[in-house]
Amino acid sequence: MEAIRIERVSQLKPKPEDEGALQFGKRFTDHMFLMDYKGDKGWHNPRIVPYAPIEMDPAATCLHYGQLIFEGLKAYRTKEGKIVMFRPEKNMERLNLSGDRLCIPPIDEEFMVGAIADLVRVEEGWVPGSEGTSLYIRPFVISTDAFLGVHPSDSYLLIVILSPVGPYYKGGLSPVRIYVEDNYVRAVRGGTGFTKCAGNYAASLRSQVEAEAQGYSQVLWLDGVEHKYVEEVGAMNVFFVLGDEVVTPALNGSILGGITRDSVLTLLRDWGYKVSERKVSMEELAEGYKNGSFKEAFGTGTAAVISPIGELKWGDVEMKLSDGKIGDLSQKLYDELSGIQRCEREDRFGWVYSVI
Ligand code: PLP
Ligand code: COI
Repeated sequence: MEAIRIERVSQLKPKPEDEGALQFGKRFTDHMFLMDYKGDKGWHNPRIVPYAPIEMDPAATCLHYGQLIFEGLKAYRTKEGKIVMFRPEKNMERLNLSGDRLCIPPIDEEFMVGAIADLVRVEEGWVPGSEGTSLYIRPFVISTDAFLGVHPSDSYLLIVILSPVGPYYKGGLSPVRIYVEDNYVRAVRGGTGFTKCAGNYAASLRSQVEAEAQGYSQVLWLDGVEHKYVEEVGAMNVFFVLGDEVVTPALNGSILGGITRDSVLTLLRDWGYKVSERKVSMEELAEGYKNGSFKEAFGTGTAAVISPIGELKWGDVEMKLSDGKIGDLSQKLYDELSGIQRCEREDRFGWVYSVI
């Protein structure tokens, strides 16, 4: 791969004055990373350029058929002023997994981790340091052939944009209310549920809007065939504390293999918890709620970190969890994970990637 060309902006944007007021994904930094793909040339022309609208042919296939994959990871500023990322190689691995499903050509993962680190170094001043804030990194790939046939494109554009962010949910670590969706489905086995492709999220919006209108933050998706087994929440994987067991749905092809999920499983096993990746039905949860064994639930995700679930609504059944407070395990995991991410706790598993 050629060296990355860097073209700097002449006029920097003002940086956020109050880090505590940062919302999720509303502000963008001064520069972005771009790289092109053409069938006969492969990936080429990597460059860091001023953040700006991109020009595209209105017939570009991504606009019509959604050949579009994306990732989400974060950079953190530590107390000592270092800048680190969390397991970026896992995101690049998953980008290629998604790409394979959507017929997008593979990208050199090591090169991309380095390119993202270069971009973050250029934008160093945008990495916030307050508790709960970070620089969200959004790599994505769009197909750019101008062609109305349904066929994989021969040209692509890879873009990385950066956004200084606060908590994904308005209430920060406060427990979220989740609506169990038993009508619409997000994904089925054999489909694209295990990928981060735009279409998965487009298909989730109708349900999300209806849940929000009823005061819920997100929906919990059930399996697409029987509408019986738990899959995941809109932007996070999900864990349940059932008696002395911590359960998360097994990856079955329709659930996203979350990197936070994997990190949480590693931590829980290391701490000696009884952890299961298996099928878990809503009936089992409702039964556990009735008999008192279902005590706590939380979501995991890059944007959401560890997000305690205060309420699950499934039809007429309302399950209120952890007395509406942050559950003990959710708090313990949040402290450990965000501690590792900010280099305040030991990085026992080699998850931290040093940028500066
Ligand atoms: N599930 C969905 C549908 C997501 O969009 C995300 C966010 O990326 C996750 C789960 C959590 O994945 P990760 O922990 O890798 O961010
Ligand atoms: C993430 O957690 O990085 C996500 O991609 C979730 C969401 C904002 C779609």
